[in-house]
Amino acid sequence: MKVLVVGANSDVSRELLNLFAAEGDDLILLSRDVENLKLLKKDIETRYEDVKVEVDYLDVTDKNSFNPIFDKFKEVDCLIYIAGYLGDNERALLDMEEAEKILNTNFTGAVLFINHFAMEFAKRGSGIIVGFSSVAGDRGKSSNFIYGSAKGGFSVYLQGLRNYLFKKGVKVLTVKPGFIATKMTENMVLPKALTASPQEVAKDVFRAIKKEKDIVYTKWFWKFIMLIIKLIPERIFKKMNM
Ligand SMILES: NC(=O)c1ccc[n+]([C@@H]2O[C@H](COP(=O)([O-])OP(=O)(O)OC[C@H]3O[C@@H](n4cnc5c(N)ncnc54)[C@H](OP(=O)(O)O)[C@@H]3O)[C@@H](O)[C@H]2O)c1
Repeated sequence: MKVLVVGANSDVSRELLNLFAAEGDDLILLSRDVENLKLLKKDIETRYEDVKVEVDYLDVTDKNSFNPIFDKFKEVDCLIYIAGYLGDNERALLDMEEAEKILNTNFTGAVLFINHFAMEFAKRGSGIIVGFSSVAGDRGKSSNFIYGSAKGGFSVYLQGLRNYLFKKGVKVLTVKPGFIATKMTENMVLPKALTASPQEVAKDVFRAIKKEKDIVYTKWFWKFIMLIIKLIPERIFKKMNM
């Protein structure tokens, strides 16, 4: 299988790549930091001699750069969109650039990039699309609703895409992580019991791909936490400090 990963430098992606490489899958790694991608390629190819790794530059907020990537990488079996940008909610309310960056990285860029492969996979009648959304997209809360709304939009997109592609033989997996200890959250104090390691998330996602799941919450209990959070009436929820 050939796996293309958008945002391949992410801490979770690095763990996921090991799991694919161990199965002998070839990899295409895309993100902005190509130097880091080259180091990653070297590391994977040293440890897994039969795995071919290609790397390229991609900024998901620049849709004009997508076509050369679409032309270059045609034989893809699995697309993983893991790029994400948390940003600063307060800043985004005042600064259009920050708001746009959050929306483009987590939603617009994702939709525009995935659409191309969705149609290619549909034509061929096979393929897997994996999108990293977030529990933040399940309910808007005051601390991160710009990011949350982008992830919420992305979750709905993936849901619709899954239904659209169902009869065409293409699988779509929505990943909804809770807290993960990565560079994205390194300046935050996270509740230990609720926080997953990148390795744990990668294992959950890999298993969900193999089992052809539609949605995976990781850690698993976030499904039930979000069920409860979604049941709280808005008149109470708006008074809570979340
Ligand atoms: N960490 C959490 O607690 C958490 C919780 C819920 C959901 N998530 C989601 O899970 C996914 C993985 O998160 P993570 O914590 O592993 O993230 P991470 O380590 O911060 O990595 C995010 C990656 O996205 C890439 N990226 C950012 N902007 C990009 C752009 N404009 N174009 C191309 N690539 C871009 C970056 O690579 P370059 O700098 O090389 O471009 C970066 O390595 C993300 O979608 C995130 O939103 C994370």
